[in-house]
Amino acid sequence: MKTDDDVSSPRDGKNIGVWDLVRGLRDGYHLSTVLACILSFGSMFMLGQFRCLSLSDLARHNMIEHNASLVHKDDLNGAEYAPTRVDRKLLAALCAEGGKVIPDRMTLEDAARIRIKREAECGKLDGVHSEVARGEIVIAIGVLGGKDAAKTGVNISALQEWMSHERLPTGWKPDHTQGLYQTYKMAKFVRERMRAAEAQQSSSKPAESH
Ligand code: HEM
Ligand SMILES: [Mg+2]
Repeated sequence: MKTDDDVSSPRDGKNIGVWDLVRGLRDGYHLSTVLACILSFGSMFMLGQFRCLSLSDLARHNMIEHNASLVHKDDLNGAEYAPTRVDRKLLAALCAEGGKVIPDRMTLEDAARIRIKREAECGKLDGVHSEVARGEIVIAIGVLGGKDAAKTGVNISALQEWMSHERLPTGWKPDHTQGLYQTYKMAKFVRERMRAAEAQQSSSKPAESH
């Protein structure tokens, strides 16, 4: 028997309308309405799908999906869809890079170092995808790490559980609303850290001989 809930909230990953996305982000992750709207309308715009989408559409390469992902391999040989399976080696490498500032925590500083590393391994992203990639890890740290996440990051095993099983960590409950301004400030911090590290790297490279 169909209930009202079945009708209003599709659960098979298909025919997701923009307001379903907004509702999911607000109810599931406690994103603010403004941030949920920007992500949801922005995603549909980037995909060029204005009516509804299926979760499988998200993997279409170079729309929202990009190379140098944290736990997914790159789209190789020009495939239309990028790999959606979590790569165990990449996940282990991601977790191993955390904890360098605060034990057992993945901080924004760790995130900046990891993004630089992935772009060094896979090639530099264009400006839009670079922001998208930063936004992804920043929102994950902000949402899962709790209200002090900008300073203290997220517990690495909670992040690992969320990424590997693609479900909320056991016992996790939102303790704050993740808003646009807070997310912007966190992403700015990561961007500045990345730029500073890249500038340092290029100034320490030996000058090219002619
Ligand atoms: C409208 C909402 C959202 C859409 C359409 C969306 C879509 C996507 C897509 C297409 C990717 C693949 C990018 C890639 O790695 O190549 C991705 C990755 C990611 N997303 Fe989302 N996302 C949304 C919301 C969120 C939220 C709320 C969080 C955090 C709680 C989040 C965290 C992440 C993370 C951490 C990755 C990186 C995975 C990796 O690098 O391997 N996303 N997202
Ligand atoms: Mg990718």
